[in-house]
Amino acid sequence: MSAKLYEKMNLYLANQEVSYLKLHNLHWYIKGRSFFTLHVKLEELYEQTAGIIDEVAERLLALGQSPVANLKTALSMAAIQEREDAPISSEDTVRGLLADVEHWIRDTGEIARLADEAGDGATADQFNGYLTEYQKLRWMLQSYLA
Ligand SMILES: [Fe+2]
Repeated sequence: MSAKLYEKMNLYLANQEVSYLKLHNLHWYIKGRSFFTLHVKLEELYEQTAGIIDEVAERLLALGQSPVANLKTALSMAAIQEREDAPISSEDTVRGLLADVEHWIRDTGEIARLADEAGDGATADQFNGYLTEYQKLRWMLQSYLA
């Protein structure tokens, strides 16, 4: 039962590793009147993502697993798509980010459920914490677009 949990945690880690650079891409390439607000928000998000990557990798190690720690493998696994190096509007930034956050929400929810089923309350708590943050972020992104 834990094998599927560990596989999902590593997939989630790969997605966050790709997201980390993608958030920088948006932070650098965003254009428009919301530049100052979103530029700062994106920096906050990639800092948060860096912390999550470290926590998930170290949780995997604590469970005797091998976290994905190279970009080639991460890219081959990840469902999150990279974007080109090109300007992007504030609206498209938030729409794209919202789609990725929906993905993060599905993954963290599934991992928390799998951890619960495996009797691993600590991992479930960890991922429920991320889920809470992502649900709040989704609400904020939806509010921006409303
Ligand atoms: Fe910066």
